[in-house]
Amino acid sequence: MIEFEYAEALKRLPDQFFAKLVKTTQALKEEGHDVINLGQGNPDLPTPEFIVKALQESSERGTFHKYPPFQGFPFLKEAVADFYKREYQVEVDPKSEVAIMFGSKTGLVEISQCLLNAKDKVLVPDPGYPDYMSGVALVDADPVFMPLKQENHFLPNYQELNPADLTAAKLMFLNYPNNPTAATATKSFFDETVAVAKTHQIGVVHDFAYGSIGFEQDKPQSFLQSEGAKEVGVEMYTLSKAFNMAGWRVAFAVGNPSIIRAIELIQDHYYVSIFGAIQMAAKEALDHGKAAMIQLTATYQERRDAFLAAAEAIGWTGGTAQGSFFIWMPVPAGYQAEEFADVLLKQAHVVVAPGNGFGKTGEGFVRIGLLDHPVRLQEACERIGKLALFRTPS
Ligand SMILES: Cc1ncc(COP(=O)(O)O)c(C=O)c1O
Repeated sequence: MIEFEYAEALKRLPDQFFAKLVKTTQALKEEGHDVINLGQGNPDLPTPEFIVKALQESSERGTFHKYPPFQGFPFLKEAVADFYKREYQVEVDPKSEVAIMFGSKTGLVEISQCLLNAKDKVLVPDPGYPDYMSGVALVDADPVFMPLKQENHFLPNYQELNPADLTAAKLMFLNYPNNPTAATATKSFFDETVAVAKTHQIGVVHDFAYGSIGFEQDKPQSFLQSEGAKEVGVEMYTLSKAFNMAGWRVAFAVGNPSIIRAIELIQDHYYVSIFGAIQMAAKEALDHGKAAMIQLTATYQERRDAFLAAAEAIGWTGGTAQGSFFIWMPVPAGYQAEEFADVLLKQAHVVVAPGNGFGKTGEGFVRIGLLDHPVRLQEACERIGKLALFRTPS
């Protein structure tokens, strides 16, 4: 068997930090342990029935059995524009300001190939969703990490960045509600981002994967709600989280027409768009999914509240949980994140994701995924409580 040498671009791809965790979890399960997995980010609930029905019906339409249009069906782009108008009071032109994508992971990786050359500087949040770095590595661009610190509400502080990096940067990734810190962004932060991006000619990619899941009074802010945002960037929205459609692979980018054209250009070479029946079901979700979205957010809120109350009862406090389906919890004094996660896994059979896996500023925290029922979340805390790692309230 010939062992073929990989291209340099492939060799640069970052290691999958969480692969080891997945393996250990699997081994414990195979030994027959009842493992509570709060380490993953895969929505556990089914896609709403009306969306599945729309797929079933549409799959019988012969027109969808052919190649779809390269850049997606206009009816889906129009549904996206209507959705942004209804949800965010933002006008987007379906013809020039919307690109359909195979899940936002694809878009977040290919955007680097669209806009960056080798050695170009790109601003990446730390901690952050690991896949931004996959695209950055493929093009051999030069990441500049923007620390997301608790004292700054897990928002980057542009004043603390090296001005030379801001001047050189061509692209910036942002993500609110944030994975992994569960923080949300304010309009004033996005306004400031637009100003910084204009001054330094930086393209902004706002990853709005958890846009529908916010627990504060106002729903999570869209980057495009800030004046001038379209001039400097795009927002990527996925149906994976809003409608439990992670397996369907549908997302879209909205915003700056030149970036949208770049995404569509690269996709013309990679794909011939998503199965038409899935595009029709996605339109159905966007057009009629409001109640389902609200219901799902309420479900996560109930889980969040159950976890936070149970954690507090064992003396584990200080978590952030403004949006997304994660909670960002500090580790107890004397522990590193990985060591703490290891103790929870081995001694309580509870899986959590160590924060340093998302970047070095994630040290000192673990990410809890709210992808199980409240009773299981409570049980996880009870098991952890038995390890007596926290000072219990007196
Ligand atoms: C922050 C963030 N962005 C993007 C994605 C990718 O989602 P999808 O490819 O399903 O659209 C995820 C998935 O976990 C995520 O957490």
